[in-house]
Amino acid sequence: MESNDVHADLKHVLKSKDEIQNRIAELAAEIDRDYEGRDLLIVGVLKGAVMVMADLARALHSHVTMDWMAVSSYGSGTQSSGVVRILKDLDSDLMGKHVLIVEDIIDSGLTLSWLKTNLESRGTASVEICTAFRKPDAAKVAIDVKYVGFDIPNEFVVGYGLDYAEKYRNLDFVGTLAPHVYE
Ligand code: PRP
Repeated sequence: MESNDVHADLKHVLKSKDEIQNRIAELAAEIDRDYEGRDLLIVGVLKGAVMVMADLARALHSHVTMDWMAVSSYGSGTQSSGVVRILKDLDSDLMGKHVLIVEDIIDSGLTLSWLKTNLESRGTASVEICTAFRKPDAAKVAIDVKYVGFDIPNEFVVGYGLDYAEKYRNLDFVGTLAPHVYE
């Protein structure tokens, strides 16, 4: 879907399709360079990371393997609870592997902070994080994120994997939702 398809539901477009694709290409170039000569496993966190995983993986010029996890990070509503449950674990054994966790957004940071520690405890050679979006003003824990697409304001954003009530994930851009949609 494009911005015209959901015009009435949006306050404004925050990052356009072109801006996102250009930034993903820059991140992919950095990742290619940083992991040159090493095997890399990229781990997408379902469901939001599907878009960024698909675009990032195709923008890379190196071989990578891909795996997926599903975790529940929200207790109820739109606030992080800090309680993380694994709904679907990785298929891969992480012993000795270089792992890059790929996310759509870091909000409070609670999910990624927990996930990074969890994966590191499995004997990895390294664990780093790549996120398409980050909300610095929403951070509740300090977390070291190696690759950040965009720092964005603490607003209700949807698109490019990010949902409201499971809708809007399939927008090819990111927009700020108009309050009348969720109030
Ligand atoms: C989102 C996002 C992260 C998490 C970030 O997932 O993909 O996993 O929230 O929030 P935090 O930094 O406050 O912990 P969500 O639980 O909405 O699931 P989804 O990817 O299926 O939409």
